[in-house]
Amino acid sequence: MATTTVDSPRRWTADPELLRCVQCRGPLNDPPTGGLVCAGCGADYPVRDGVLVVKDQATDDNKIAQDFYNSPLWPKFRFWERFFWFCNGGERKSRDVILRHLPKTGGLRLLDVAIGDGVYTSWLPEDWSIVGVDVSTAQLSACAARNAGRKDLRLILGEAESLPFHDHQFDAVLSIGGFNHFNDPEGALREMARVAKPGAPMVISDELPDLTDRMLGHRIGLPGIDRWIVSRLMNLGDSFTDLVERHRKMDIAAIGRNVLSDSRYETIWRGGGYVMVGTAP
Ligand SMILES: C[S@@+](CC[C@H](N)C(=O)[O-])C[C@H]1O[C@@H](n2cnc3c(N)ncnc32)[C@H](O)[C@@H]1O
Ligand SMILES: [Zn+2]
Repeated sequence: MATTTVDSPRRWTADPELLRCVQCRGPLNDPPTGGLVCAGCGADYPVRDGVLVVKDQATDDNKIAQDFYNSPLWPKFRFWERFFWFCNGGERKSRDVILRHLPKTGGLRLLDVAIGDGVYTSWLPEDWSIVGVDVSTAQLSACAARNAGRKDLRLILGEAESLPFHDHQFDAVLSIGGFNHFNDPEGALREMARVAKPGAPMVISDELPDLTDRMLGHRIGLPGIDRWIVSRLMNLGDSFTDLVERHRKMDIAAIGRNVLSDSRYETIWRGGGYVMVGTAP
């Protein structure tokens, strides 16, 4: 049932210039019963706790990520994420090497794909209009609560690979920490570029896909030790650990070159991560 709450600063309305149906590309209407409904195919888009629900149940690898980020494993893993930031000079400094690639323009409309719990959202200019997409309801609720005072933040439950927006809507696109594990990273990047205005900056960042190669077990030919550390000690769990391992040979820079104009790829966090910056064609 459609509801809006105090947690979500701006209410979802049909917004015909921005939104379209992911199934038939038709416009969305605001029925008096709440939520949004596609005028073309009749698909329902409920608004739950202020979040527009485009896709409730993710599939394949996105489902593994959805389950992990909705589960109690995530808060336990968070400890290790904080440790990682500490080793790289603190969270603010670690994230600023990514965020500095965003323009400083006032009134900008930003799309944040895989916004998570929105730790850095409050560091972005208050006059920006931000739309965040994520597969995890737990992360989106945390993001809404953390950014309750923010005037123009709207959240969507859905997948990066299928965005409910018309072409050329955003002045910039950001995605931190989820890209390596999307079902279809190249397809998602194409989708992000589609909804960005031509020439808009696109900033994508994550850990290096083969980060676990640096761990001791991999170096001494006993990768099972690292698997145990990552899945059990660091609490990533079996399914997510398998997912990370499956994606470790991804060529992120090649994906950027295939999709973006002027794509640049650089390693950050002492070689632990990357930031890829380009513009939407
Ligand atoms: C490590 S968190 C990063 C969150 C935030 N961007 C940050 O840097 O703190 C990764 C996020 O990606 C989301 N995610 C994973 N796959 C996704 C997909 N295909 N589409 C949208 N979000 C996704 C997860 O739910 C999770 O919230
Ligand atoms: Zn439709």
